[in-house]
Amino acid sequence: MSQQELFTPISGQDNSYSVISFGCQMNNSDSEKISGILEQMGYNSTDDLEKAGVLIINTCCVRETAENKVYGLLGRLRKVKEKNPQLIIGVGGCMTQVEETARHIKKRYPYVNIVFGTGNLHQLPDMINKALVRKETLMEICRPESIPEGIPARRQGGLKAWIPVMYGCDNFCTYCIVPHVRGRERSRQPQDILKETRDLAEKGFKEITLLGQNVNSYGKDLGMKNGFGNLLTILNPIEGLLRIRFMTSHPRDFTDGLIEAIKNADKVCEHFHIPIQAGSNSILKKMNRGYDREYYLELINKIRQHIPAAAITSDIMVGFPGETERDFLDTMDILEKVRYDTAFTFVYNKRSGTPAERMADQIPDREKTRRIEILIKRQNQISLEINEGETGKAHQVLAEGMSKTNPEMVSGRTRTNKLVMFPGKEGNTGRTFAVKIKKGTLTYLEGEALPE
Ligand code: SAH
Ligand code: SF4
Ligand code: F3S
Repeated sequence: MSQQELFTPISGQDNSYSVISFGCQMNNSDSEKISGILEQMGYNSTDDLEKAGVLIINTCCVRETAENKVYGLLGRLRKVKEKNPQLIIGVGGCMTQVEETARHIKKRYPYVNIVFGTGNLHQLPDMINKALVRKETLMEICRPESIPEGIPARRQGGLKAWIPVMYGCDNFCTYCIVPHVRGRERSRQPQDILKETRDLAEKGFKEITLLGQNVNSYGKDLGMKNGFGNLLTILNPIEGLLRIRFMTSHPRDFTDGLIEAIKNADKVCEHFHIPIQAGSNSILKKMNRGYDREYYLELINKIRQHIPAAAITSDIMVGFPGETERDFLDTMDILEKVRYDTAFTFVYNKRSGTPAERMADQIPDREKTRRIEILIKRQNQISLEINEGETGKAHQVLAEGMSKTNPEMVSGRTRTNKLVMFPGKEGNTGRTFAVKIKKGTLTYLEGEALPE
Protein backbone atom coordinates (compact mmCIF):
# COMPACT_ATOMS: atom_id res chain seq x y z
CA MET A 1 0.00 0.00 0.00
CA SER A 2 1.36 3.42 -0.87
CA GLN A 3 1.75 6.17 1.71
CA GLN A 4 -1.02 8.06 -0.02
CA GLU A 5 -3.54 5.23 0.43
CA LEU A 6 -2.60 4.80 4.05
CA PHE A 7 -3.43 8.46 4.68
CA THR A 8 -6.84 8.47 2.99
CA PRO A 9 -9.67 9.31 5.41
CA ILE A 10 -11.99 6.41 6.22
CA SER A 11 -15.10 6.65 4.04
CA GLY A 12 -18.15 8.11 5.72
CA GLN A 13 -15.91 10.53 7.65
CA ASP A 14 -16.33 14.16 6.64
CA ASN A 15 -13.10 14.83 4.82
CA SER A 16 -12.73 18.51 5.55
CA TYR A 17 -10.34 20.09 8.05
CA SER A 18 -9.71 23.33 9.84
CA VAL A 19 -6.55 24.59 11.58
CA ILE A 20 -6.82 27.32 14.20
CA SER A 21 -3.50 28.99 14.92
CA PHE A 22 -2.47 31.05 17.94
CA GLY A 23 0.83 32.77 18.64
CA CYS A 24 3.68 33.96 16.46
CA GLN A 25 4.57 33.59 12.77
CA MET A 26 6.53 30.46 13.59
CA ASN A 27 3.27 28.86 14.68
CA ASN A 28 1.53 30.20 11.55
CA SER A 29 4.24 28.59 9.49
CA ASP A 30 3.77 25.28 11.35
CA SER A 31 0.01 25.60 10.75
CA GLU A 32 0.71 25.88 7.00
CA LYS A 33 2.64 22.62 7.29
CA ILE A 34 -0.16 20.95 9.28
CA SER A 35 -2.60 22.04 6.55
CA GLY A 36 -0.21 20.68 3.92
CA ILE A 37 -0.10 17.30 5.69
CA LEU A 38 -3.90 17.15 5.99
CA GLU A 39 -4.38 17.99 2.30
CA GLN A 40 -1.92 15.26 1.40
CA MET A 41 -4.13 12.93 3.42
CA GLY A 42 -7.08 13.90 1.24
CA TYR A 43 -8.78 16.43 3.50
CA ASN A 44 -10.05 19.79 2.16
CA SER A 45 -9.96 23.05 4.04
CA THR A 46 -13.17 24.44 5.59
CA ASP A 47 -14.04 27.38 7.85
CA ASP A 48 -17.15 25.63 9.16
CA LEU A 49 -16.08 24.04 12.44
CA GLU A 50 -19.43 22.28 12.80
CA LYS A 51 -18.79 20.37 9.58
CA ALA A 52 -15.06 19.65 9.83
CA GLY A 53 -13.85 16.07 10.10
CA VAL A 54 -10.55 17.17 11.64
CA LEU A 55 -9.89 20.27 13.70
CA ILE A 56 -6.35 21.11 14.76
CA ILE A 57 -5.55 23.81 17.32
CA ASN A 58 -1.98 25.13 17.20
CA THR A 59 -1.30 26.72 20.58
CA CYS A 60 0.95 29.40 22.08
CA CYS A 61 2.13 29.70 25.70
CA VAL A 62 4.22 32.86 25.65
CA ARG A 63 1.76 34.61 27.99
CA GLU A 64 -1.19 33.49 30.08
CA THR A 65 -3.60 35.43 27.87
CA ALA A 66 -2.57 33.27 24.89
CA GLU A 67 -3.22 30.10 26.89
CA ASN A 68 -6.58 31.34 28.11
CA LYS A 69 -7.75 31.82 24.53
CA VAL A 70 -6.99 28.16 23.85
CA TYR A 71 -8.79 26.98 27.00
CA GLY A 72 -11.79 29.14 26.05
CA LEU A 73 -11.89 27.54 22.61
CA LEU A 74 -11.50 24.02 24.01
CA GLY A 75 -14.43 24.69 26.35
CA ARG A 76 -16.62 25.79 23.46
CA LEU A 77 -15.70 22.72 21.45
CA ARG A 78 -17.48 20.42 23.90
CA LYS A 79 -20.81 21.33 22.26
CA VAL A 80 -19.42 21.02 18.74
CA LYS A 81 -18.16 17.55 19.56
CA GLU A 82 -21.54 16.56 21.04
CA LYS A 83 -23.21 17.54 17.76
CA ASN A 84 -20.54 15.90 15.65
CA PRO A 85 -19.04 12.99 17.61
CA GLN A 86 -17.01 11.91 14.55
CA LEU A 87 -14.94 15.09 14.76
CA ILE A 88 -11.24 14.50 15.44
CA ILE A 89 -9.82 17.28 17.64
CA GLY A 90 -6.04 17.67 17.77
CA VAL A 91 -4.13 20.05 20.02
CA GLY A 92 -0.50 20.85 19.20
CA GLY A 93 1.99 23.71 19.41
CA CYS A 94 3.95 25.28 22.23
CA MET A 95 1.49 24.67 25.08
CA THR A 96 1.62 20.93 24.67
CA GLN A 97 5.43 20.98 24.92
CA VAL A 98 4.93 21.71 28.63
CA GLU A 99 4.30 18.26 30.06
CA GLU A 100 2.03 19.43 32.84
CA THR A 101 -0.15 21.39 30.38
CA ALA A 102 -0.36 18.45 27.97
CA ARG A 103 -1.55 16.18 30.79
CA HIS A 104 -4.02 18.82 31.96
CA ILE A 105 -5.54 19.12 28.47
CA LYS A 106 -5.86 15.35 28.18
CA LYS A 107 -7.60 15.09 31.56
CA ARG A 108 -9.77 18.19 31.54
CA TYR A 109 -10.89 17.98 27.89
CA PRO A 110 -11.32 14.21 27.30
CA TYR A 111 -13.00 14.85 23.95
CA VAL A 112 -9.64 15.94 22.53
CA ASN A 113 -8.45 13.00 20.42
CA ILE A 114 -4.82 13.94 19.81
CA VAL A 115 -2.22 15.90 21.77
CA PHE A 116 1.04 16.43 19.87
CA GLY A 117 4.24 18.46 20.23
CA THR A 118 5.98 20.94 17.93
CA GLY A 119 8.42 18.22 16.85
CA ASN A 120 5.75 15.63 16.08
CA LEU A 121 4.05 17.10 13.02
CA HIS A 122 5.18 14.22 10.80
CA GLN A 123 3.30 11.77 13.07
CA LEU A 124 -0.04 13.49 12.50
CA PRO A 125 -1.29 11.20 9.67
CA ASP A 126 -0.63 8.14 11.75
CA MET A 127 -2.23 9.67 14.85
CA ILE A 128 -5.33 10.80 12.94
CA ASN A 129 -5.80 7.37 11.41
CA LYS A 130 -5.51 5.77 14.85
CA ALA A 131 -7.89 8.33 16.37
CA LEU A 132 -10.53 7.43 13.79
CA VAL A 133 -10.84 3.99 15.36
CA ARG A 134 -9.80 4.55 18.98
CA LYS A 135 -11.55 6.37 21.78
CA GLU A 136 -8.77 7.34 24.21
CA THR A 137 -6.70 10.51 23.75
CA LEU A 138 -3.45 9.84 21.88
CA MET A 139 -0.40 11.77 22.96
CA GLU A 140 2.97 12.17 21.17
CA ILE A 141 5.38 14.77 22.47
CA CYS A 142 9.09 14.57 21.80
CA ARG A 143 11.79 17.15 22.43
CA PRO A 144 11.79 19.38 19.38
CA GLU A 145 15.20 18.41 18.05
CA SER A 146 14.67 17.76 14.38
CA ILE A 147 14.30 20.15 11.44
CA PRO A 148 11.02 19.51 9.61
CA GLU A 149 12.34 19.34 6.00
CA GLY A 150 10.14 17.93 3.27
CA ILE A 151 6.73 18.68 4.82
CA PRO A 152 4.59 20.39 2.17
CA ALA A 153 3.18 23.74 3.33
CA ARG A 154 -0.24 24.93 2.25
CA ARG A 155 0.42 28.66 1.96
CA GLN A 156 -2.19 31.35 2.36
CA GLY A 157 -2.43 33.53 -0.73
CA GLY A 158 0.09 33.51 -3.56
CA LEU A 159 2.05 36.68 -2.92
CA LYS A 160 3.81 36.57 0.43
CA ALA A 161 5.35 33.55 2.15
CA TRP A 162 6.88 32.82 5.54
CA ILE A 163 10.07 30.78 5.42
CA PRO A 164 11.55 29.49 8.67
CA VAL A 165 15.35 29.58 8.49
CA MET A 166 15.99 28.38 12.00
CA TYR A 167 14.07 26.78 14.81
CA GLY A 168 14.41 27.13 18.57
CA CYS A 169 16.27 29.66 20.68
CA ASP A 170 19.42 29.54 22.82
CA ASN A 171 19.05 32.91 24.47
CA PHE A 172 17.14 32.00 27.60
CA CYS A 173 15.89 35.48 28.40
CA THR A 174 14.86 34.95 32.00
CA TYR A 175 11.15 35.74 31.45
CA CYS A 176 10.67 33.62 28.33
CA ILE A 177 9.23 30.13 27.85
CA VAL A 178 10.15 29.84 24.15
CA PRO A 179 13.59 28.16 24.56
CA HIS A 180 11.95 25.65 26.91
CA VAL A 181 9.24 24.67 24.43
CA ARG A 182 11.01 25.15 21.11
CA GLY A 183 14.37 23.62 22.00
CA ARG A 184 17.89 24.57 20.94
CA GLU A 185 18.74 26.65 17.87
CA ARG A 186 18.75 24.60 14.68
CA SER A 187 19.49 26.26 11.35
CA ARG A 188 18.25 24.89 8.06
CA GLN A 189 20.80 24.22 5.34
CA PRO A 190 21.22 27.27 3.07
CA GLN A 191 20.56 25.17 -0.06
CA ASP A 192 17.17 24.04 1.35
CA ILE A 193 16.17 27.66 1.99
CA LEU A 194 17.45 28.69 -1.44
CA LYS A 195 15.46 25.94 -3.15
CA GLU A 196 12.27 26.75 -1.25
CA THR A 197 12.60 30.45 -2.11
CA ARG A 198 13.30 29.74 -5.79
CA ASP A 199 10.28 27.43 -6.01
CA LEU A 200 8.07 30.11 -4.45
CA ALA A 201 9.37 32.80 -6.81
CA GLU A 202 8.66 30.48 -9.76
CA LYS A 203 5.08 30.08 -8.51
CA GLY A 204 4.69 33.86 -8.55
CA PHE A 205 5.36 34.76 -4.90
CA LYS A 206 6.84 38.26 -4.65
CA GLU A 207 7.79 38.57 -1.01
CA ILE A 208 9.35 36.28 1.58
CA THR A 209 9.80 36.75 5.30
CA LEU A 210 12.63 34.74 6.80
CA LEU A 211 11.59 33.52 10.21
CA GLY A 212 13.33 32.59 13.40
CA GLN A 213 13.20 33.48 17.10
CA ASN A 214 16.58 35.02 16.52
CA VAL A 215 17.18 35.05 12.76
CA ASN A 216 20.46 36.88 12.90
CA SER A 217 22.14 34.03 14.76
CA TYR A 218 21.33 31.88 11.71
CA GLY A 219 24.14 29.47 10.87
CA LYS A 220 26.03 29.71 14.17
CA ASP A 221 25.15 26.09 14.93
CA LEU A 222 26.42 25.12 11.46
CA GLY A 223 29.77 26.79 12.18
CA MET A 224 29.14 29.75 9.86
CA LYS A 225 30.36 33.30 10.38
CA ASN A 226 27.97 36.04 9.21
CA GLY A 227 25.62 33.20 8.24
CA PHE A 228 22.51 35.40 8.08
CA GLY A 229 24.19 38.15 6.05
CA ASN A 230 25.45 35.54 3.60
CA LEU A 231 22.01 33.98 3.37
CA LEU A 232 20.51 37.35 2.40
CA THR A 233 23.25 37.73 -0.20
CA ILE A 234 22.48 34.38 -1.87
CA LEU A 235 18.70 34.90 -1.83
CA ASN A 236 18.77 38.45 -3.20
CA PRO A 237 19.39 37.60 -6.89
CA ILE A 238 16.45 35.16 -7.20
CA GLU A 239 14.46 36.10 -10.27
CA GLY A 240 10.86 37.19 -9.76
CA LEU A 241 11.32 37.86 -6.06
CA LEU A 242 10.77 41.52 -5.13
CA ARG A 243 11.08 41.76 -1.38
CA ILE A 244 12.90 40.02 1.44
CA ARG A 245 11.95 40.60 5.06
CA PHE A 246 13.01 38.90 8.27
CA MET A 247 12.06 38.61 11.91
CA THR A 248 12.96 38.61 14.73
CA SER A 249 16.44 40.01 15.03
CA HIS A 250 18.23 40.15 18.35
CA PRO A 251 20.13 43.41 18.99
CA ARG A 252 23.21 41.50 20.13
CA ASP A 253 23.56 39.64 16.83
CA PHE A 254 22.93 42.64 14.54
CA THR A 255 26.56 42.81 13.40
CA ASP A 256 28.33 45.26 11.09
CA GLY A 257 28.67 42.41 8.60
CA LEU A 258 24.89 42.02 8.56
CA ILE A 259 24.31 45.76 8.06
CA GLU A 260 26.75 45.66 5.14
CA ALA A 261 24.95 42.65 3.60
CA ILE A 262 21.57 44.38 3.96
CA LYS A 263 22.93 47.52 2.29
CA ASN A 264 24.12 45.49 -0.67
CA ALA A 265 20.99 43.37 -1.06
CA ASP A 266 18.49 45.64 -2.79
CA LYS A 267 15.48 43.37 -2.15
CA VAL A 268 15.93 43.43 1.62
CA CYS A 269 13.31 45.89 2.84
CA GLU A 270 14.05 48.85 5.07
CA HIS A 271 12.17 47.56 8.09
CA PHE A 272 13.90 46.10 11.11
CA HIS A 273 12.12 44.64 14.11
CA ILE A 274 14.70 44.85 16.88
CA PRO A 275 13.10 44.28 20.29
CA ILE A 276 14.67 46.18 23.16
CA GLN A 277 12.34 44.73 25.86
CA ALA A 278 13.41 47.29 28.49
CA GLY A 279 15.35 50.55 28.63
CA SER A 280 17.02 50.13 31.99
CA ASN A 281 20.44 48.50 32.18
CA SER A 282 19.75 46.75 35.46
CA ILE A 283 16.52 45.24 34.08
CA LEU A 284 18.20 44.25 30.79
CA LYS A 285 20.82 42.46 32.87
CA LYS A 286 18.22 40.63 34.94
CA MET A 287 16.47 39.69 31.70
CA ASN A 288 19.74 38.18 30.39
CA ARG A 289 19.40 40.12 27.14
CA GLY A 290 23.14 40.41 26.53
CA TYR A 291 23.33 44.15 25.73
CA ASP A 292 22.85 47.49 27.46
CA ARG A 293 20.94 50.60 26.41
CA GLU A 294 24.08 52.36 25.18
CA TYR A 295 24.92 49.47 22.84
CA TYR A 296 21.32 49.37 21.61
CA LEU A 297 21.13 53.10 20.88
CA GLU A 298 24.45 52.97 19.06
CA LEU A 299 23.18 50.06 16.96
CA ILE A 300 20.07 52.01 15.95
CA ASN A 301 22.23 55.02 15.03
CA LYS A 302 24.49 52.82 12.95
CA ILE A 303 21.56 51.27 11.10
CA ARG A 304 20.07 54.70 10.38
CA GLN A 305 23.42 56.02 9.20
CA HIS A 306 23.78 53.21 6.67
CA ILE A 307 20.11 52.77 5.81
CA PRO A 308 18.51 56.21 6.30
CA ALA A 309 15.00 55.12 5.24
CA ALA A 310 14.91 52.35 7.87
CA ALA A 311 11.71 51.90 9.84
CA ILE A 312 12.46 50.45 13.27
CA THR A 313 9.96 48.54 15.41
CA SER A 314 10.25 46.83 18.75
CA ASP A 315 8.84 44.63 21.49
CA ILE A 316 8.74 46.34 24.88
CA MET A 317 7.76 44.91 28.23
CA VAL A 318 6.79 46.62 31.48
CA GLY A 319 6.52 45.24 35.00
CA PHE A 320 9.47 42.85 34.96
CA PRO A 321 10.29 41.81 38.57
CA GLY A 322 12.11 44.59 40.40
CA GLU A 323 11.29 47.25 37.79
CA THR A 324 11.34 50.56 39.66
CA GLU A 325 9.74 53.82 38.55
CA ARG A 326 13.22 54.92 37.43
CA ASP A 327 13.70 51.75 35.39
CA PHE A 328 10.33 52.36 33.77
CA LEU A 329 11.26 55.96 32.97
CA ASP A 330 14.42 54.62 31.29
CA THR A 331 12.14 52.60 29.01
CA MET A 332 10.04 55.71 28.32
CA ASP A 333 13.26 57.58 27.50
CA ILE A 334 14.12 54.95 24.86
CA LEU A 335 10.86 55.78 23.06
CA GLU A 336 12.00 59.41 22.79
CA LYS A 337 15.51 58.52 21.68
CA VAL A 338 14.64 55.85 19.11
CA ARG A 339 11.19 56.99 17.98
CA TYR A 340 9.92 53.59 16.89
CA ASP A 341 7.53 53.41 13.96
CA THR A 342 5.46 51.00 16.05
CA ALA A 343 6.00 48.76 19.04
CA PHE A 344 4.36 45.65 20.44
CA THR A 345 3.91 46.32 24.13
CA PHE A 346 3.50 43.67 26.81
CA VAL A 347 2.90 43.39 30.51
CA TYR A 348 5.35 40.95 32.07
CA ASN A 349 3.63 37.65 32.81
CA LYS A 350 5.09 34.88 35.01
CA ARG A 351 5.89 31.72 33.09
CA SER A 352 6.30 28.51 35.01
CA GLY A 353 9.86 27.14 35.00
CA THR A 354 11.56 30.41 33.98
CA PRO A 355 14.06 32.13 36.32
CA ALA A 356 12.04 35.38 36.48
CA GLU A 357 9.14 33.46 38.02
CA ARG A 358 11.13 33.13 41.21
CA MET A 359 12.63 36.65 41.25
CA ALA A 360 11.87 38.98 44.15
CA ASP A 361 9.73 42.13 43.84
CA GLN A 362 7.07 40.97 41.41
CA ILE A 363 5.17 44.09 40.35
CA PRO A 364 1.48 44.33 41.32
CA ASP A 365 -1.00 44.10 38.42
CA ARG A 366 -2.36 47.61 39.02
CA GLU A 367 1.09 49.14 38.67
CA LYS A 368 1.80 47.09 35.54
CA THR A 369 -1.44 48.38 34.05
CA ARG A 370 -0.57 51.98 34.91
CA ARG A 371 2.84 51.64 33.25
CA ILE A 372 1.63 49.96 30.10
CA GLU A 373 -1.07 52.59 29.61
CA ILE A 374 1.53 55.37 29.78
CA LEU A 375 3.80 53.45 27.41
CA ILE A 376 1.09 52.76 24.83
CA LYS A 377 -0.20 56.32 24.93
CA ARG A 378 3.21 57.83 24.22
CA GLN A 379 4.13 55.27 21.57
CA ASN A 380 0.83 55.90 19.77
CA GLN A 381 1.57 59.63 19.69
CA ILE A 382 5.00 58.94 18.20
CA SER A 383 3.64 56.46 15.63
CA LEU A 384 1.01 59.00 14.59
CA GLU A 385 3.59 61.80 14.29
CA ILE A 386 5.84 59.59 12.15
CA ASN A 387 2.95 58.53 9.88
CA GLU A 388 1.69 62.11 9.53
CA GLY A 389 5.24 63.01 8.53
CA GLU A 390 4.94 60.65 5.53
CA THR A 391 2.54 63.09 3.85
CA GLY A 392 3.91 64.29 0.53
CA LYS A 393 6.46 61.46 0.25
CA ALA A 394 6.34 58.79 -2.46
CA HIS A 395 6.65 55.11 -1.53
CA GLN A 396 6.96 51.91 -3.51
CA VAL A 397 3.85 49.91 -2.58
CA LEU A 398 3.26 46.24 -3.34
CA ALA A 399 -0.50 45.88 -3.92
CA GLU A 400 -1.78 42.92 -1.89
CA GLY A 401 -5.53 43.02 -2.64
CA MET A 402 -8.65 45.10 -2.27
CA SER A 403 -9.20 46.85 1.06
CA LYS A 404 -11.61 44.98 3.35
CA THR A 405 -13.24 48.22 4.47
CA ASN A 406 -13.45 50.16 1.18
CA PRO A 407 -14.19 48.38 -2.13
CA GLU A 408 -12.67 51.26 -4.15
CA MET A 409 -9.29 51.02 -2.48
CA VAL A 410 -6.33 48.72 -2.93
CA SER A 411 -4.32 47.85 0.14
CA GLY A 412 -0.62 47.16 0.13
CA ARG A 413 2.61 47.76 2.00
CA THR A 414 5.62 49.99 1.65
CA ARG A 415 9.09 48.51 1.88
CA THR A 416 9.11 49.98 5.39
CA ASN A 417 6.12 47.71 6.14
CA LYS A 418 3.49 50.43 6.45
CA LEU A 419 -0.03 49.64 5.35
CA VAL A 420 -1.17 51.89 2.48
CA MET A 421 -4.61 52.36 0.90
CA PHE A 422 -4.95 53.90 -2.55
CA PRO A 423 -7.67 53.96 -5.23
CA GLY A 424 -7.33 50.99 -7.58
CA LYS A 425 -8.78 47.72 -8.79
CA GLU A 426 -8.46 43.98 -8.17
CA GLY A 427 -6.14 43.57 -11.18
CA ASN A 428 -3.51 45.64 -9.39
CA THR A 429 -2.75 42.83 -6.94
CA GLY A 430 0.85 41.61 -7.08
CA ARG A 431 2.16 44.73 -8.83
CA THR A 432 4.18 47.57 -7.35
CA PHE A 433 3.16 51.20 -7.59
CA ALA A 434 4.77 54.49 -6.70
CA VAL A 435 2.23 55.96 -4.30
CA LYS A 436 2.21 59.56 -3.16
CA ILE A 437 1.08 59.73 0.47
CA LYS A 438 -1.75 62.18 1.18
CA LYS A 439 -2.57 61.31 4.75
CA GLY A 440 -1.06 59.41 7.68
CA THR A 441 -3.05 57.90 10.56
CA LEU A 442 -1.96 55.80 13.54
CA THR A 443 -2.24 52.50 11.70
CA TYR A 444 -2.14 53.21 7.97
CA LEU A 445 -1.33 55.69 5.20
CA GLU A 446 -3.58 56.87 2.39
CA GLY A 447 -2.31 57.96 -1.00
CA GLU A 448 -2.63 57.97 -4.77
CA ALA A 449 -0.68 55.97 -7.32
CA LEU A 450 1.55 58.16 -9.48
CA PRO A 451 1.23 57.68 -13.27
CA GLU A 452 3.57 54.89 -14.46
N1 SAH B 1 12.28 35.82 19.80
C1 SAH B 1 11.66 37.04 19.77
C2 SAH B 1 10.29 37.14 20.40
C3 SAH B 1 9.61 36.00 21.00
S1 SAH B 1 8.20 36.23 21.97
C4 SAH B 1 12.59 38.04 20.40
O1 SAH B 1 13.41 37.71 21.19
O2 SAH B 1 12.45 39.19 20.09
C5 SAH B 1 7.55 37.80 21.52
C6 SAH B 1 7.60 38.81 22.60
O3 SAH B 1 6.80 38.40 23.70
C7 SAH B 1 8.96 39.05 23.23
O4 SAH B 1 9.75 39.89 22.46
C8 SAH B 1 8.61 39.65 24.55
O5 SAH B 1 8.50 41.05 24.47
C9 SAH B 1 7.25 39.07 24.85
N2 SAH B 1 7.31 38.10 25.95
C10 SAH B 1 8.02 36.95 26.01
N3 SAH B 1 7.85 36.36 27.22
C11 SAH B 1 7.02 37.16 27.93
C12 SAH B 1 6.48 37.12 29.25
N4 SAH B 1 6.77 36.12 30.09
N5 SAH B 1 5.65 38.11 29.64
C13 SAH B 1 5.35 39.13 28.80
N6 SAH B 1 5.84 39.23 27.56
C14 SAH B 1 6.67 38.26 27.12
FE1 SF4 C 1 12.45 34.40 24.15
FE2 SF4 C 1 14.65 35.83 24.37
FE3 SF4 C 1 14.61 33.70 22.77
FE4 SF4 C 1 13.24 35.86 22.12
S1 SF4 C 1 15.47 35.73 22.31
S2 SF4 C 1 12.54 33.75 22.05
S3 SF4 C 1 12.55 36.64 24.06
S4 SF4 C 1 14.45 33.70 24.99
FE1 F3S D 1 4.01 31.44 21.25
FE2 F3S D 1 5.44 29.36 20.65
FE3 F3S D 1 5.55 31.51 19.14
S1 F3S D 1 5.11 30.16 22.69
S2 F3S D 1 5.15 33.16 20.56
S3 F3S D 1 3.79 30.25 19.44
S4 F3S D 1 7.22 30.10 19.58
